[in-house]
Amino acid sequence: MIQNKNIANFGVTIIQARHSIRHFNDSPIPDDIIRKVLECAKSAPSARNVQPWLFGTITDKALRDEIAELATHGKFIAEAPVCFAVFGERDQQYVLEDCCAATENLIIALTGYGIGSCWVAGEGKEYAEPIRKLLGVPEQYKLISLVAAGEAKTEGFTLAKKKNLIDISFKNRYGSE
Ligand SMILES: Cc1cc2nc3c(=O)[nH]c(=O)nc-3n(C[C@H](O)[C@H](O)[C@H](O)COP(=O)(O)O)c2cc1C
Repeated sequence: MIQNKNIANFGVTIIQARHSIRHFNDSPIPDDIIRKVLECAKSAPSARNVQPWLFGTITDKALRDEIAELATHGKFIAEAPVCFAVFGERDQQYVLEDCCAATENLIIALTGYGIGSCWVAGEGKEYAEPIRKLLGVPEQYKLISLVAAGEAKTEGFTLAKKKNLIDISFKNRYGSE
């Protein structure tokens, strides 16, 4: 039962306003907003409430340049004023699901503050360990995702095409009316 439809509508609006942003202005993200979005990230659900995550906030330009150099499809990390790095405890069974939930919360919270972002793959990538070592993160953690964030440069931006709901959903049994 939805208790408050205004809150529900607000959430839907923010979720649907999110798009991957890969070009940024260099204005910094204020510290209080960084704190708030990390609070949102850590409020994600996690299996058995293990909360296996560790969040890095990388603002240092030299570090961001090195991460961008390593991340095959994340060169724009050099341009974004902030790169979040989501790590997870590698021995936890649901570390991937938990940390992806936290990553999405982080991105949605950034959208709520009008901050553009783009998820950059981390888990299983050949650069995951080099980035962990670069940031001095203990071996018990592995990199799950990177999120480039900052004020969006909107010139030349095109929306990603989404599949139609009818083609990717079913009610009760698959294939029935
Ligand atoms: C797990 C995951 C990994 C991604 N990795 C990258 C990446 O390495 N580089 C990139 O530019 N975008 C990356 N993306 C963003 C997707 O390309 C993007 O979400 C998709 O094209 C749909 O566009 P939208 O986010 O605007 O809806 C990734 C997204 C996810 C969920």
